[in-house]
Amino acid sequence: MPVRFVVLADTHYHPSAPRDFAPPKLLTRGPEILAATIPAVNALKPDFILHAGDLLCGGSSFELSQEQYAQSLQDVSRAYAGFTAPVHCVAGNHDCDAQQYRYTDFARTFDTPDVLDVMDVAPGVRLVRVHIYSHGEAGDGTWTDALDAGLRAADSRARDDGAVLFLLLHNWIHPGVGDSPTKGVIGNAHVLQATLAECPTVAATFSGHHHANRIRLFRDYVCIDTACLIGYPLGFREMTLAEDGWLTSTWHTLDLPSLFALSAQLDTPEHNHHWAGEFGDRDNIVLLPRAASAGDNKRRRS
Ligand SMILES: [Fe+2]
Ligand SMILES: [Fe+2]
Repeated sequence: MPVRFVVLADTHYHPSAPRDFAPPKLLTRGPEILAATIPAVNALKPDFILHAGDLLCGGSSFELSQEQYAQSLQDVSRAYAGFTAPVHCVAGNHDCDAQQYRYTDFARTFDTPDVLDVMDVAPGVRLVRVHIYSHGEAGDGTWTDALDAGLRAADSRARDDGAVLFLLLHNWIHPGVGDSPTKGVIGNAHVLQATLAECPTVAATFSGHHHANRIRLFRDYVCIDTACLIGYPLGFREMTLAEDGWLTSTWHTLDLPSLFALSAQLDTPEHNHHWAGEFGDRDNIVLLPRAASAGDNKRRRS
């Protein structure tokens, strides 16, 4: 059976933003965008939903009071209770509060891991969620020894069980074209990249943070990076993984035409092209080589 899921990223809800802050974000329209997201996702009847982090506007950038942070947790968790499929989140650098940079309330509200956890999300597909920020840390997060050991252990178990892994984290693993090697990329990325090379069950990774779409094959794993939902191109991914390892990505823009037009006016066409990505960064059919070989092995055994 194919597995169908939705990927959301950087929804950046602010209950009462005084301004939109830097493009492509439309923070002043947070409640409207949050309300439109739930029925748009439910209409696709996904098996599960992934959120790559930055649900909120905490951290150092958005002048969020403690009261607004508490309100954000309440508003977003209430809205997400309306999803008809389970939603699996990781924390982004803006999901801590804005005073102490603590993730405690966020982790409790959205059931995110302290370090790393692994769960079955579909037959033969396991999700590895990682928390890459330590107390008081914002910015790009770090791939730590504990995360590395946890991913290697999950890979070992998945090999024994014939499963494939999806890795969900907030930051990019490989830098963008024209970017410096560290821009928006997780700290110790070279360690994670080496580990991914040695963990053959990790078929795909899912990230946000850059607010730009990208689908890229690195070695034999595919990185799916997703733009922000709070601004241009104002949407999310529907994804289907077939049993033979083909992954289909379909981009859905929220049905808010006047907001979409407004979001497009916030930045230059060149920058908007960067946020939206190439056509193939949104709508594409790619082979996940590691999922294809796991499927081959399963068919040989049966
Ligand atoms: Fe973000
Ligand atoms: Fe971020």
